Amino acid sequence: MKLGTPLSATALKVMLLGSGELGKEVVIALQRLGVEVIAVDRYPNAPAHQVAHRFHVIDMTNPQALRALVEAEKPDIIVPEIEAIATDMLVEIEKAGLAEVIPTARAAQTTMNRERIRDLAADVLKLPTSRYAYAHSEAELRTHIERIGFPCFVKPVMSSSGKGQSMLHNPADIQPAWEHAMRAGRVSGGTVIVEEFIDFEFEITLLTVRALNAKGEIETYFCDPIGHIQKQGDYVESWQPQAMSATALKTAQDIAYKVTENLGGRGIFGVELFVKGDKVWFSEVSPRPHDTGMVTMITQQQNEFELHARALLGLPVSTTLRNMGASAVIYGGYDSPEGLIYEGIEEALRIPDTDLRLFGKPEAFIKRRMGVALAMGKTVEEARERAKLAASKVRTVKP
Ligand SMILES: Nc1ncnc2c1ncn2[C@@H]1O[C@H](COP(=O)(O)OP(=O)(O)OP(=O)(O)O)[C@@H](O)[C@H]1O
Ligand SMILES: [Mg+2]
Repeated sequence: MKLGTPLSATALKVMLLGSGELGKEVVIALQRLGVEVIAVDRYPNAPAHQVAHRFHVIDMTNPQALRALVEAEKPDIIVPEIEAIATDMLVEIEKAGLAEVIPTARAAQTTMNRERIRDLAADVLKLPTSRYAYAHSEAELRTHIERIGFPCFVKPVMSSSGKGQSMLHNPADIQPAWEHAMRAGRVSGGTVIVEEFIDFEFEITLLTVRALNAKGEIETYFCDPIGHIQKQGDYVESWQPQAMSATALKTAQDIAYKVTENLGGRGIFGVELFVKGDKVWFSEVSPRPHDTGMVTMITQQQNEFELHARALLGLPVSTTLRNMGASAVIYGGYDSPEGLIYEGIEEALRIPDTDLRLFGKPEAFIKRRMGVALAMGKTVEEARERAKLAASKVRTVKP
């Protein structure tokens, strides 16, 4: 593996598609290795824009705009950071040999659509999942729910961060759930997935890394499981490690191995699983760092962003856990187009073994994730208390 000098003819150029808080940390990890980084998003001054060598603002769901930018910048490697990208064009770009897509263009294409990834997981790979069906109309949804039963979840097939999702308890919930999904789905056309409710004990993200080993072959490495709590489909707290039975952990790793092996390529994946006792269900997978994995910035020798950077460059990785820890999300609290002022930082950081990330997002919304508090602890419980306390000390103020 050779690395050149950024901003020279020898530079290794990486283009990030999506420039949020996760991308920002990937850029920082790549910058530390002297990689030239180009960050792309749909709005200016996105978090990763602020730390890259250059940035661009385009509509990444527009295939022509995406191709034109790739032809102009000629990156060696393209790293998707979000789902909402013209992934068919990524497949063309990869096929034409214009750039390598991480982990693969097919992985980005498959995982952005719940129908594709669920069919792959359940039908092709025979992984355990909730019972599910797809519906293209409210009437069809009603018919499927008669079989699947209540409670159940309805989700647009193309959406993320819980957008357009509902949990249904009785027949009166069907019509509002259908309408909510139709309003929020990324692409009109109107397909939803209905999923059986899994009464899990806890849910985990199993960060799984496909990276080159000493023999130059791709090997699969697992981080310790990350437990988390979701509210309205958005993560509010995560911790590592999540305690679980040896059987459940082995099953989780087997599932993660199979799905990431099929998606292929090099990089980190966030495999989302539901657990009850020794039983594990596959939920979904992100072929990129995972928001709940921000906790690894305080728990692992190499955090999930460094692992992604190393894996995509073909460098060795270590998924060693250094200590127990937790993360807690800091929300905007206000709608503010001018951004926010953050107070109470010193009080937050006075809590022992804590750290903070403020993402620098130029615009705030009440429920927008603007930062995250991180904490270590002698136990996961202690780390969670510290992280939550630190997050609560940060006060947001409208300028
Ligand atoms: N079938 C289910 N049974 C029980 N809980 C579920 C089910 N589906 C979703 N959930 C809950 O809702 C959360 C969000 O669901 P899911 O991951 O499918 O949505 P998402 O929009 O892709 O979210 P994100 O992009 O944040 O991962 C899950 O983490 C889980 O807490
Ligand atoms: Mg999810």
